[in-house]
Amino acid sequence: MPHTIVIFGASGDLTSRKLVPALYNLMRAGALPDQTRIVGFSRTPLADAEWRASLRDSTAGHCDCGPLDDASWNRFAAALHYQPGDIGVAADIGRLETRLRALEGGVPTDRIYYLATAPQFYEPVVSALGAHGMAAQDQGSRRIVVEKPFGTDLATAQALNAHIHTVFRESQVFRIDHYLGKESVQNILALRFANTIFEPIWNRRYVDHVQITVAEEVTVGRRGGYYDSTGVLRDMFQNHLLQLLMVTAMEAPVRFNANAVRNEKVKVLEAIRPLDAADAAAAGIRGQYRGYLQEPGVPAGSRTATFGAIRLEIDNWRWQGVPFYLRSGKAMSCRTTQIVIGFRQPPLELFANGTPAHAREANRLVIQIQPAEGIQLHFHTKVPGAGMHLRLTDLDFSYSREFAGRLPEAYEPLLLDVLEGDASLFARADVVEKSWEIVDPFVRAWSAPGLAAPAGYEPGDWGPLSSFEWMAAQGRTWFDMCPVLT
Ligand code: BG6
Repeated sequence: MPHTIVIFGASGDLTSRKLVPALYNLMRAGALPDQTRIVGFSRTPLADAEWRASLRDSTAGHCDCGPLDDASWNRFAAALHYQPGDIGVAADIGRLETRLRALEGGVPTDRIYYLATAPQFYEPVVSALGAHGMAAQDQGSRRIVVEKPFGTDLATAQALNAHIHTVFRESQVFRIDHYLGKESVQNILALRFANTIFEPIWNRRYVDHVQITVAEEVTVGRRGGYYDSTGVLRDMFQNHLLQLLMVTAMEAPVRFNANAVRNEKVKVLEAIRPLDAADAAAAGIRGQYRGYLQEPGVPAGSRTATFGAIRLEIDNWRWQGVPFYLRSGKAMSCRTTQIVIGFRQPPLELFANGTPAHAREANRLVIQIQPAEGIQLHFHTKVPGAGMHLRLTDLDFSYSREFAGRLPEAYEPLLLDVLEGDASLFARADVVEKSWEIVDPFVRAWSAPGLAAPAGYEPGDWGPLSSFEWMAAQGRTWFDMCPVLT
């Protein structure tokens, strides 16, 4: 069946930097189904040829595919169409539908509506699609892709879900979190569920704690206006970090399909110990990099956290008593996303040689999500020579060493999944709402009136000093290495 991808917000950044380059790469790789057309809709008055020309330049800059090849681009560009219009104007949506029908020429076609607009337009687009009968599935399937942020708290996420469900059934809704499209994130499922050697130790008997870090070197830069009302909890924790936690902590699904996988994920969130704002205040550290207040768009005296570290407990048989530390920040020492499974010390330490317990390193499995994707296992080895002196050594697997070629950009597999109707890597309504339920108490605690300013840290640090002290007080240390593989 032919496909039409309708992009709302077609003249925006997401479209030019991510969506169109991803679709172009899919087409070059022969992965995009034949007869896929892409129709852009936004207010900017543009003709087809102008939209194609502007996308050619942006795609060349963002496709990570070397110099744009004319033949491939021309083949791709022929599938691009543009319809100017205003989401709020019923006649414009009517004109869009007429254009889509003309392009589809009466042939049943699967349609994907992609919301790449600012979030305040999500509900109006859904209403407009409903009002024009554009969600009806009698001439092919109709799917809708919703970008983050999905609400700003539990109440707004519930309201948005309820609104979407007035027009689309849940099976038609694809809430995207680009972290789930990353190869190395999907590989966690392979590591855990295609191997038997990790399963027996993947639990409270052997694991002391888990650290999930998404560190970014970039500052907020020109996104100050957006970022200041969002902060690190909403920007990174509610979605990306909790998704990483779910794939790390979930039970094996009974089969690999969207509902089985998502049922297991939501169970992890359901098992996270609920906190009120007072508990949350004690279960986290907030920081702000020095210089944030001078970023354009950031109001004077803002207390928005650009760094956060929180501790969550999962109350189930597998994880009872194993803290999960989640940490993310802007302006940190390097760009690295990693999951560290910190194992327990041996029950009897024969070779401690007087080293105090807190200074002894235990086994670790480091899953390096990006950059330098791979996995590293740390274990003790005897240093050759007299005496039982040990050193931590490692075994590692690196994607670049093992596999030739570039890793697909996260949007590529996700867009393909939407075209195929596979929602395994997309957030279901209950997952999104549960995630907000977990993050909301932290947001409330971190914006309580009269609260002290977040602890400052220098750009290039691993967050504020208080974050190290907080870990030390729990007898643990952050694993800070940039990135662990090279
Ligand atoms: C986005 C956040 O969702 O993820 C950004 O809004 C952040 O603030 C980005 O920079 C990080 O994505 P990645 O893929 O570069 O780790």
